[in-house]
Amino acid sequence: MARIGILTGGGDCPGLNAVIRAVVRRGINAHGFEIAGFRNGWAGVLAGDFFELTHDNTSGILHRGGTILGTSRTNPYAQDGGGERARATLSKAGIDAVVAVGGEDTLGVAHRLSADGIDVVGVPKTIDNDLGRTDFTFGFNTAVQIASDAIDRLHTTAESHNRVIVVEVMGRSAGWIATYSGMAGGADAILVPERPFDLDEVCARIRRRHATGRLFSIIVVAEGAQPVGGIDDGPPETDAFGHPRLGGIAVTLEKEIEARTGYETRMTILGHVQRGGTPTAYDRVLATRFGVAAIDAVAAGHFGNMVALHAADIVEVPLEDALAEPKLLDPELYQTAEVFFG
Ligand code: F6P
Repeated sequence: MARIGILTGGGDCPGLNAVIRAVVRRGINAHGFEIAGFRNGWAGVLAGDFFELTHDNTSGILHRGGTILGTSRTNPYAQDGGGERARATLSKAGIDAVVAVGGEDTLGVAHRLSADGIDVVGVPKTIDNDLGRTDFTFGFNTAVQIASDAIDRLHTTAESHNRVIVVEVMGRSAGWIATYSGMAGGADAILVPERPFDLDEVCARIRRRHATGRLFSIIVVAEGAQPVGGIDDGPPETDAFGHPRLGGIAVTLEKEIEARTGYETRMTILGHVQRGGTPTAYDRVLATRFGVAAIDAVAAGHFGNMVALHAADIVEVPLEDALAEPKLLDPELYQTAEVFFG
């Protein structure tokens, strides 16, 4: 009987449990696999820390946020002999193939292991929606819903107080969450990593809006957005994959917008609220479809691939293509959002 390992890596994301449940249900029922769940992403693979996944211990988890397997940003290839150790543990645990659920980092490790002879299939996860070759990752829809609900709430308080409110959302290198939630929430400006912003222009927009009698504004900013010329904050703290720890651009914007326009300004950083809690129905369905397709790909021997959403269909694409470059914001989408800027 084949034995398949599954792990969830990187930042957690609503829908991870739906993938695990789907892999286990389909893997056992349709393919007769044994499924081993590795704890805390690649850290569990390095340590040989896993447990058997069954119908029983994966039932009732579909609607639950987070991941029953735990997660981490561990990069085996950043450790001496880490790649070899990962392969050795997989072999010792009798694992025939691995389903890796993650974003560019987790899947980047999966891709390297695949080149080193391990059979892997990837499942695209990230609230940022910045993975290549899939229209959407699961988790994104939930994050957008949480952010747009928050923007609705901030709207009424901004209006009552005649304030500018700056809402910071996640999005390290891509402004998908900012643009979708900003459009859904009627933002007066959306600042994204793909387009360095000019603060004078942002302030001019706010002033124009105020001049027409609309005395409040909502500015949505992605955590990775930067002014033209950047901000010199010194060397950032980075994770095992070399990504900077972001967050806080809204603090600068609050001060600068108030100083330059004279309008009372407040900021809110949504942070990890966007990653927590129950997935939307859309994400539960997408994650379930990805999970079933991933374990079917394992059964068919389609290794080195990632399952992906293309229009309404679930397809397989080579991991190498998915990881070639991040999927940045569609300029046409941003132009549509801009129609509604103050
Ligand atoms: O997983 C992607 C992400 O949510 C980014 O949007 C954000 O910059 C990062 O993770 C935050 O990571 P951590 O949870 O490690 O602070």
